[in-house]
Amino acid sequence: IGQQITMPHKGNIRVAQVIESTNTELKDAASKRANGDVILAEIQTAGRGRHGRQWLAPVGGSLTMSMYWRFNDGYQSMAGLSLLVGIAVCQALKQCGLDEARLKWPNDVYLYGKKLAGVLIEVEGQLGAPADSIIGIGLNVTVPEHEYDVGQPHIDMSHELGPDLNRNDIAARIIEQLWELLPAFTQHGFEPYVATWQELDWFADRTVVIKAGNKRISGVNRGIDASGALLLETSDGITRFHGGEVSLRAG
Ligand code: BTN
Repeated sequence: IGQQITMPHKGNIRVAQVIESTNTELKDAASKRANGDVILAEIQTAGRGRHGRQWLAPVGGSLTMSMYWRFNDGYQSMAGLSLLVGIAVCQALKQCGLDEARLKWPNDVYLYGKKLAGVLIEVEGQLGAPADSIIGIGLNVTVPEHEYDVGQPHIDMSHELGPDLNRNDIAARIIEQLWELLPAFTQHGFEPYVATWQELDWFADRTVVIKAGNKRISGVNRGIDASGALLLETSDGITRFHGGEVSLRAG
């Protein structure tokens, strides 16, 4: 990355060389950040994933970035945010020539059934007050599939597009997509995006297992509702699951 990116001004973009985590950096910058601001890092020394996991990425092989976005109407207007971010990443990848990226509820980007990108959203705020979100994205651009063990099957963009990839271009397209989608989402909520998300769902109508705490519930994935909750069909009917500490895998 290592250079300034010039785009229409909808937020500041900073490229850092070595920092702990782009999410942590934006969290700690509470007095200095403005809506739409972005931080990218060449190297994260303490990259974080969901469920308290680490996010490891080889130097030069991944995009690690975070955007700050404020919701003046508070928490309730954020429902579906992580799914919206997945759509933004998929659409940006499509512009980069990668048509096959799909989504895994609640917020992974998949390519041929393997993880291509992850999203970690962190929220700050109190009930009834404006809420701040830090939207973190980690995307495998050129990450050797066999040499790099992160404990789950992963894949990178070079698998489809070859090694000659321009990370600035990819980053710029993701940022532009977020800048485009977030204002409309903030105003109208997730409902207008449900159909788009479902078209991109890798597990649509497939048997999946939902892990919620110690429980494992098997059922058929019947898509999502307007709040982004997963609709799981079991012998008891349809059950809704909200993101948070829940995860999904193939059944
Ligand atoms: C996951 O799939 O568990 C989410 C991974 C999110 C990783 C990104 S990399 C940029 C940002 N900074 C972090 O520390 N984490 C997110």
